[in-house]
Amino acid sequence: MNGSGTFDAIAARRAFGDALLERFPFDAFVSKTITLQPREGNPPPRLWETPAGMINSIGLPNKGLDGFLASDLPELAELPVPLIVSVMGFSRDELATLVERVAASDVVAMVELNVSCPNVETGLIMGADPAETALAVERLRPRCQKPLIVKLTPNAQDPAAVAQAAEAAGADAVSLINTLKGMALDPVTRRPWLGGVSGGLSGPAVRAVALEQVRAVAERVTIPVIGMGGIASGLHAADFLAAGARFVAVGTESFRDPSAGRRIGRELRSFSRKEREIHCAGSTGPT
Ligand SMILES: Cc1cc2nc3c(=O)[nH]c(=O)nc-3n(C[C@H](O)[C@H](O)[C@H](O)COP(=O)(O)O)c2cc1C
Repeated sequence: MNGSGTFDAIAARRAFGDALLERFPFDAFVSKTITLQPREGNPPPRLWETPAGMINSIGLPNKGLDGFLASDLPELAELPVPLIVSVMGFSRDELATLVERVAASDVVAMVELNVSCPNVETGLIMGADPAETALAVERLRPRCQKPLIVKLTPNAQDPAAVAQAAEAAGADAVSLINTLKGMALDPVTRRPWLGGVSGGLSGPAVRAVALEQVRAVAERVTIPVIGMGGIASGLHAADFLAAGARFVAVGTESFRDPSAGRRIGRELRSFSRKEREIHCAGSTGPT
């Protein structure tokens, strides 16, 4: 699948027409995160390229729940794969409204909770704290019959403890990692380059961190783990699966190559076939 916010299927459909639907790069599509109220996002500049990835401070610009349901959802419903809608709320009430209304749509297969934001009631980053995450998921669980994925932030002291709390509270899957906090300075003024001052680091630079966190989380939960963070080839995807992920997602690599999802899927299949052949050739018993 894609990492939320890294592949704009509506813009891609405009650019590539129905060819996009015939050769869709992912087996499931995750929307960018939506919030209850419309947001303009952070002031520019919003991106900084690093030697091995990028820092973004996009700030979740979106049309808000009503705008999403009225104008984006009908377009996303035409995609040939299951649709997962990513939501973020700044309070448990907000999150509950978002989940309830999004999950009520027949075209939505699953809901992903982006918990990398402060809860205005407590001042804590929801996904950085196991108890906060559990309270949010417990509250949502009875209101949503569809699978709930909790997207973990790597900026937590113990992401595996957050994953465990999410599972105990009723989450059906966890995905990780979201971006790591980072910043860049303007080389001339030495002031923060990004309009939002700090941002989120993604791409190859975070892959080793993501791999370790996926392994730690997969050891502590029984629900499926969706692994992501710097995946740019089938070999990387195979690493995440070996570390315990049941599914993988591609994010930053899609900016470089919009068909990366297909390519990585193809590479993964041929890599798995070759690995099987090597194992079979080396084995003396029945294959
Ligand atoms: C430009 C950009 C926008 C993103 N927007 C979102 C978002 O709206 N919601 C979310 O949960 N994650 C968002 N992410 C995080 C990605 O989904 C993914 O978790 C992260 O980038 C790590 O994967 P990658 O290294 O393959 O990009 C965004 C990442 C980037 C680079």
